[in-house]
Amino acid sequence: MLDRFVMGEVERLSPEAPVPVLRVVSEERRLGGAANVIHNIRSLGGRVTAAGIIGKDEAGKRIVEVLRRVGASTAGVFTDPKFQTIQKSRIIASPHHQQIVRLDRESREPVQAATLKRLRQFILERAERCDGVVISDYGKGAVHHELLAALAASLGAGKILCVVDPKKENFGHYRLPTLITPNKSEAADAAGIEIRDDKTLRAAGAKLLRQWRAQGVLITRGAEGMSLFRPRRAPKHFPTAPREVFEVTGAGDTVVAVCALVLACGGDFENAATVANVAAGFVGDEIGTVAVPFKKLKAKIEELSS
Ligand SMILES: Nc1ncnc2c1ncn2[C@@H]1O[C@H](COP(=O)(O)OP(=O)(O)OP(=O)(O)O)[C@@H](O)[C@H]1O
Ligand SMILES: [Mg+2]
Repeated sequence: MLDRFVMGEVERLSPEAPVPVLRVVSEERRLGGAANVIHNIRSLGGRVTAAGIIGKDEAGKRIVEVLRRVGASTAGVFTDPKFQTIQKSRIIASPHHQQIVRLDRESREPVQAATLKRLRQFILERAERCDGVVISDYGKGAVHHELLAALAASLGAGKILCVVDPKKENFGHYRLPTLITPNKSEAADAAGIEIRDDKTLRAAGAKLLRQWRAQGVLITRGAEGMSLFRPRRAPKHFPTAPREVFEVTGAGDTVVAVCALVLACGGDFENAATVANVAAGFVGDEIGTVAVPFKKLKAKIEELSS
């Protein structure tokens, strides 16, 4: 996914300009969605191979170019000529960084079966040689139930580590992930439990552990931090210092990236949640999807643990 941010100042309505005018001040293009997860992993020093689907278009070329520039392998990025690369353009007005409108460009057609099959084969084969797999599911079709079923077979055999950022489209298909990171509304939706207090949060966490047969469920709760659920253990809450944020696009991408890195490095679930919480706290500092630099994260963790 490619994210575009157009920032500008709104001019007052006048008889000469009967429609609102935004005078563009700056414009940026960044990696979005799963590509932002990859960017986050690279930014923290991880080695990563991208796997996904793009269209035969400018935006697709651009994604591959930027992924390579940040040091990711693009060996698993497949081009489907019938697919339109997903692009989201956000029009933002200063001085309050208010998002006025978002323009989405994406295919309405489902991804071709042959492309899905190539992607699936690539991921399954490559997974065995990697320290872990991250499934950044944006519900756009690349993460397909057959891929999840095939991955579950490897996960059941304890062969790979897999961290999943889930989306509604596949709530019924995730099986045996090492860790899965729904936000609060996704957790409520998937569990069929309205989360209003500690009791309902615990009920949802416990239900999702069973439903997805996960080793860990990490429910992200925006400014309230996150809560970790593990089978036969008391839930653990990780509060965060709530911030006034411009916009938190991509906080969930940072969470899944950091959790995967920490677990792949041999850290435990608590380590993963602690570090992810700190890293995701930085995301709202800037407009748009951003990758957290390693030095900044390290300095903050040292400060918090001294
Ligand atoms: N206002 C905030 N202040 C501090 N930390 C925040 C804030 N919002 C989000 N975070 C951090 O980011 C994490 C993920 O945020 P959230 O639960 O909103 O995920 P999300 O809805 O998946 O985000 P997105 O889909 O926009 O990437 C939180 O668990 C927390 O660590
Ligand atoms: Mg999310």
